[in-house]
Amino acid sequence: MKITVIGAGNVGATTAERIAYSELAHEVVLLDIAEGIPQGKGLDMYEAMPVVASDTRVTGTNNYQDTAGSNFVIITAGLARKPGMSRDDLLAANAKIVGSCAAQAVAYSPNAFYIVVSNPLDVMTYVTLQKTGLPRNKVIGMAGVLDTARYRTFISMELNVSVEDVQALILGGHGDSMVPLPRYTTVAGIPLADLMPQDKIDAIVKRAANGGIEIVNFLKTGSAYYAPSASAVQMAESIIKDKRRILPCSVALEGEYGLSGVVTGVPVKLGKNGVEQVIEVALNNDEAAAFHKSADDVKANIAKLAAMEY
Ligand code: NAI
Ligand code: 2OP
Repeated sequence: MKITVIGAGNVGATTAERIAYSELAHEVVLLDIAEGIPQGKGLDMYEAMPVVASDTRVTGTNNYQDTAGSNFVIITAGLARKPGMSRDDLLAANAKIVGSCAAQAVAYSPNAFYIVVSNPLDVMTYVTLQKTGLPRNKVIGMAGVLDTARYRTFISMELNVSVEDVQALILGGHGDSMVPLPRYTTVAGIPLADLMPQDKIDAIVKRAANGGIEIVNFLKTGSAYYAPSASAVQMAESIIKDKRRILPCSVALEGEYGLSGVVTGVPVKLGKNGVEQVIEVALNNDEAAAFHKSADDVKANIAKLAAMEY
């Protein structure tokens, strides 16, 4: 198992570190455009392996040849937002970066699974689909796992229960119009509405939808990376171990939920073939309207790509 992580910044480096520490792959290649950074971080990580008892070999490079034959390519390259910026403000710059990374990576790793992290996430997943020419089961965007993890954390904080017992689902794009679904949220099988009043649920839903900017406003120089890297690795792990986890991921829709020509977050089964099933949950009128609005926001951004070089 060889995993390439493109972008050796905050998300990329922590993703590589998690993979190496858990020995999920025997080889991790960290690639970045900045000279010396991936080499230095890669060697530093490799030198931790005797201490953490992992035989993963970690190397850093600026050269795509070193990524050849990867089973996974995790794309984290690109600009991160700063206070006052929305994810959509990154569109033009990151479309160029992600487009060039995906095109170069697929030339050396045509059979890999591609997990996309760069923002705006759903559009960058679309760009990766376009540039790699791979089928939708192999190109998967990470956002729903993160957004749902934030939502689960806030519920656990409020109820003072284990995060493990909180099961939840967020649909839609990784943006302001994402759609947390309290109706599909349970704590050890107990519906959320039986455990907390509606105003508390509303406040938690709002905090989860704004979870990214909450971290940006603290950090000021960049965005979240601990929870994002954990989320990307959970997706890879489900595929590598054929766990068939049901996780919210951003994928190209082909008629599911009445949508096509858009990449957005839905629950999928992740197994050895990547996306093995897109699961359609029944939505009430309000939920369906919110989900379609979120998908329309992604579609509008995809349409902007037509006027851009990427
Ligand atoms: P960062 O600034 O720490 O790292 C980005 C890295 O990309 C830098 O090392 C930079 O040199 C590299 N890079 C830039 N152009 C490149 C190119 N052409 N080829 C290779 N490497 C290149 O940023 P961070 O925090 O790691 O975030 C990375 C991206 O992930 C951002 O777009 C951010 O918005 C996104 N993100 C998405 C999340 C999600 O839920 N989908 C969560 C967290 C971050
Ligand atoms: C987040 O939600 C920046 O999209 C990233 O933290």
